Amino acid sequence: MNVVVSNTIADLRRRVREARQSGASIAVVPTMGALHEGHGRLIERARAECGFVVVTIFVNPTQFNEPADYARYPRTLEADLTFCEARGADVVFAPSLEEMYPREQQAFIETGKVAQFMEGRFRPGHFRGVATVVAKLLNIVGPDKAYFGQKDAQQVAVVRHMVEDLNFPVEIVEVPTVRESDGLALSSRNARLSAEERRVAVALYEALTAGGDLIAGGERRSIEVKRCAAEVFARCPGVRPEYFEVADPVRFTPVERIECPVRILGAIWIGQTRLIDNVLVGTEAQD
Ligand code: PAJ
Repeated sequence: MNVVVSNTIADLRRRVREARQSGASIAVVPTMGALHEGHGRLIERARAECGFVVVTIFVNPTQFNEPADYARYPRTLEADLTFCEARGADVVFAPSLEEMYPREQQAFIETGKVAQFMEGRFRPGHFRGVATVVAKLLNIVGPDKAYFGQKDAQQVAVVRHMVEDLNFPVEIVEVPTVRESDGLALSSRNARLSAEERRVAVALYEALTAGGDLIAGGERRSIEVKRCAAEVFARCPGVRPEYFEVADPVRFTPVERIECPVRILGAIWIGQTRLIDNVLVGTEAQD
């Protein structure tokens, strides 16, 4: 295998320093592994834009609000390494828990209003953990560009605000959501769905696009968009919606009156599996 696996911060930093000395720009693609085509698109974009591509694989305990969810998160390192190699990554940084958190962490990133609603509301502490581990990874790698997926649009916004507010010298690149042919956004969690659950999982994307169509047709009341989504979910037995919001696409605060562009975001439960997705409405670049 050509891809280099680095398990320690010191080793990774040495490799990045050497790449930089040879004139390469540095990319980082932070992931938690169980890699799929969504992650693949991020790595390919990084490969196209930078001379040296670091993929990080670390299942970060501080962003899981449920210990059981952390425990059963898929861990598929061998397959992930083959995947990274095929996509042309230069280094996979796969640190141990002790390497990333050698003692009880005292310093955390405070994430503010952008992290308050939607995911922030239903997963308390989640974005604090995400922002903190991303800050650590950015400080460890020292990249020119860092790649994130719009599938987790609020996460990108939290990271963007952190990077701008705290003057991290890195450019955040957003990559459009990769979907299955029926519209379901690719996610490591999809593997947990039974055949029947997988069939109804598309309800989330259907509700988002139905909402987007309403807005495109002139609807300006968020409550009507939510009502339309509720009808879609009601037709799908086994789907339990957790939230469905129309939000400002930069601040990620819910809006009542729609002034485009807006982002529609939703989370549903199907059995034991939680899925999230979102679409941007009202700009040229629909995702
Ligand atoms: P993870 O869920 O592994 O996702 C890693 C990156 O892949 C994220 O930026 C996510 O938005 C992107 N991604 C996942 N599915 C995608 C899809 N279908 N289309 C496009 N991009 C997709 O997000 C995390 O890990 C963690 O929170 C992390 C940022 C690594 C911090 O621990």
